[in-house]
Amino acid sequence: MATTLFNASCSFPSIKVIDCKSYVGLRSNVNQVSLPVATSQRRSLVVRASNGHANKLGRSDAECEAAVAAGDVPEAPPVPPKPVAPAGTPVIQPLNLNRRPRRNRASPTVRAAFQETDISPANFVYPLFIHEGEEDTPIGAMPGCYRLGWRHGLVEEVAKARAVGVNSIVLFPKVPEALKNPTGDEAYNDNGLVPRTIRLLKDKYPDLIIYTDVALDPYSSDGHDGIVREDGVIMNDETVHQLCKQAVSQARAGADVVSPSDMMDGRVGAIRAALDAEGFQNVSIMSYTAKYASSFYGPFREALDSNPRFGDKKTYQMNPANYREALIEAREDEAEGADILLVKPGLPYLDIIRLLRDKSPLPIAAYQVSGEYSMIKAGGVLKMIDEEKVMMESLMCLRRAGADIILTYFALQAATYLCNQKR
Ligand code: PBG
Repeated sequence: MATTLFNASCSFPSIKVIDCKSYVGLRSNVNQVSLPVATSQRRSLVVRASNGHANKLGRSDAECEAAVAAGDVPEAPPVPPKPVAPAGTPVIQPLNLNRRPRRNRASPTVRAAFQETDISPANFVYPLFIHEGEEDTPIGAMPGCYRLGWRHGLVEEVAKARAVGVNSIVLFPKVPEALKNPTGDEAYNDNGLVPRTIRLLKDKYPDLIIYTDVALDPYSSDGHDGIVREDGVIMNDETVHQLCKQAVSQARAGADVVSPSDMMDGRVGAIRAALDAEGFQNVSIMSYTAKYASSFYGPFREALDSNPRFGDKKTYQMNPANYREALIEAREDEAEGADILLVKPGLPYLDIIRLLRDKSPLPIAAYQVSGEYSMIKAGGVLKMIDEEKVMMESLMCLRRAGADIILTYFALQAATYLCNQKR
C-alpha cells in the first residue's frame, strides 16, 4: 500500500529526505490512500513502494525469494561467541527474575532513550558580580568568579555566555562603602550601578533577559536585607516600602525580572502593585520563596562585602530545619502574584524544590549558591573530585528535583560543556 506522509513540518531529517522512487520499506498497492491534506503537500510526500524491477545487483525480488525458498540462503556474519567470564567465576543457575532493570541501562543508546531529565543552557541564569572599577577583581572564596567592571568585563562575560546559549543573567552589585546608609537609599538611585548597567546591557543586547536582586543588603551600612531598628529588629513594612522603590527603579532601567531575595512578608504583592502603578505590567517577579538562613552564602557575602555587621538573618530567612514552612511562603507568593518561585540554596534543599514543584503550577527556580559552587571548585582544584562531572551531576539533580531554571555560577562552564557534547 502506498503511504502518504503529510507531516510537512516534521523536523526529522530522515523523513524529509526519503527518496520517494526507490524507497522499498513499504509494499505497493495500486490504490493510494487519500488523506485530507493540501494537494501540494501530498504530491511531494507520497512514498512509492518497490516496483518489482531488478535492483542494482541484477536480481529481482522474486528471484531472491525463489533462491531462498530453494534453500540457497545467503550468508550473514555468525552470532559472536559468548564472552568468557574470568577464571574462578562461580558457575550458578541464573536467578529467576522476570524484571531485570539493568536491561534498560545496557548501552549508551538505551540509556539515552530512557533518560527522564535533560538539561540545556536555556535552563541557566548566570549570576554576575559587578563593581564600579575598570578591572575585573578575582573573588578569593569563589575561584573563577570576578567582580566584573560594569563597562568592560561584564559586557565580555555576557557575550561569552550568549555564545553558548546562556541568555539570562542576574546582577549583584558591589556598592561603594560611602554610598551605604541604614535605609539603603542607594538601592533606588536611577543612576546607581545596577540601573546604569542594565541600560548599558540592554543597549548592547536588547534580547538579553536581565534578572535583578531586590534586597537592601548590598546598600545597607548594617549589611542586612532590611532596615534595622536600634534594638536590632528588622523592620518589615518600612523595608517593603524601600524594596518597591528599588524594584521600580530597576524596571525603569529595563530589567525583565525583579527578584526579591529579602524575605520580608508581603513584598511580592507590594512590588507587583508598585510595578503596575508605574506601567510595568510586563515585568516579572521571581520570588525567593523559600530562602533559608544558610551558611552556604558565605563566599557571596565576601564577594560583595555584605556580611551583616551584627547578628544573623534568622528573623527573616527560614530555618534550615523546616519543610512545611516552605508551603506557607509558596502560598503567599502565589497569591500575591509571583511569576516564578525560587528555592535557595539548591542541592541541600532538593526536598523543598520537589515540594514546590508538586504543589505549585508556577515555574520553579533553584539557586546553586556560592558555597555549593566553591565546594565543588575546591574539591576539583585539590583533585579530590572530578570538577566537571560533579558540576554536571549537581545541575542535573536540581533539574530532576523539579527546577525549571537554575541560577548557577557554573552557567558558562556548564553550557560550554553541553555545547561541546553536542558536536
Ligand atoms: C542578598 C542575597 C544573598 C544571596 C543572594 N542574594 C546573600 C544573603 O542573603 O545573605 C546569596 C547568593 C549566594 O550565596 O550565591 N539578599
